[in-house]
Amino acid sequence: MQNTKPAIPSARPSRSRDFKVLPRDPISVGSKFLPFHTPEIGTEEIQSVVETLQSGWLTTGQKVKRFETDFARYIGCQHAVAVNSGTAALHLALDAVGVQEGDEVIVPTMTFTATAEVVLYFKAKPVLVDCEPDTFNIDPLDIERKITAKTKAIIPVHMAGQSCNMDRIMEIARRHKLKVIEDAAHALPSRFNGKMIGTIGDVTCFSFYVTKPIATGEGGMAVTDNLEWAERMRVMSLHGISKDAWKRYTNEGSWFYEVQFPGFKYNLTDIAAALGIEQLKKCDRFWQARKQIAAAYDEGFAAVPEIQRPVCAAYSQHAWHLYVIQLETERLRINRAEFITALKNQGIGTSVHFIPLHLHPYYRDTFDYKPDDFPNATAAYDRIISLPIYPKMTADDISRVIDAVQSIVLEYRR
Ligand SMILES: Cc1ncc(COP(=O)(O)O)c(C=O)c1O
Repeated sequence: MQNTKPAIPSARPSRSRDFKVLPRDPISVGSKFLPFHTPEIGTEEIQSVVETLQSGWLTTGQKVKRFETDFARYIGCQHAVAVNSGTAALHLALDAVGVQEGDEVIVPTMTFTATAEVVLYFKAKPVLVDCEPDTFNIDPLDIERKITAKTKAIIPVHMAGQSCNMDRIMEIARRHKLKVIEDAAHALPSRFNGKMIGTIGDVTCFSFYVTKPIATGEGGMAVTDNLEWAERMRVMSLHGISKDAWKRYTNEGSWFYEVQFPGFKYNLTDIAAALGIEQLKKCDRFWQARKQIAAAYDEGFAAVPEIQRPVCAAYSQHAWHLYVIQLETERLRINRAEFITALKNQGIGTSVHFIPLHLHPYYRDTFDYKPDDFPNATAAYDRIISLPIYPKMTADDISRVIDAVQSIVLEYRR
């Protein structure tokens, strides 16, 4: 191998001189596989769940109410509606703002299918938009290009936990009379120009899926300052039954209820809320831990020209839900998929966020999308890898990731 490039300094000064390629087989390294993610569940969460189980109230009840109140206070918004997934929150949000059959909803191609799938629930059309080449957030210029007379709403996704440019998106939305439903599955806690994500758009949706900044296994929250939408989401989350249907088995409740709309079964359980209440208390600590890992990665890859680090916009307080590196593949003799395999061989779990929607068979074939329709997302897809970033990681874990990335670059650089 031609090696005219400067040597990569190790993340740990003590190893800077004996920097070497690690053995390939993780078992022979003797260290365990480092998963892409594991949630941090402490005794507080376990205790809280046990108490809930002992209380006999397992489904939606006081714990859910408490989780909603705590969450609204944390975000600084008026209303929080707890549901059983982030996808459910997005679905209810679109329903609340009045999306209907035949409407178009603007969705970034660089996202998880849930963001676009919920649009299809209404027989509306998800209109995909390219991402910015650096932040991977939805490109406001491409939003403008895709707006038609049928457009009803925009769903910006705060990719990896970095807020979109909400001033530009809100300005476009208001000018065209569109609703803004923020997909904040990654964005807890994130800020745009100091404003908490959850206080800007019309409705903002969070996810508590196991890999997310706080986890309840499955769960989600829709937040808004609009009382009417909050009530609609609450009613629709529980079969479209009249207000506070969940109380009908309590002292305060009544046997009588009325079905007002054909709703959904999206309510969160008290068991999940018991987890959520305790996780939320740790949200800032988790964020600080992720921030430190991101800083360590930034430092570890600073002198590795083959690795492009995440670009942080000045207006964003990044939640660091994900740390997405971009490979300068033209400088390497392996491609992104092979790089992931090489990391796996060194015992490091990774992921890819995201396989852009336009490359998936369903969206490609149904809407006839071509890779060139979304040049930034298509180009990014071949280069991105999400590295492990979660509070449970030890200093050794972080160093292992940095060393593994560096060693693979050294082995395969052109
Ligand atoms: C950007 C984005 N939106 C929505 C979702 C859906 O969240 P949930 O799994 O809680 O339904 C996810 C989950 O991975 C996501 O990453």
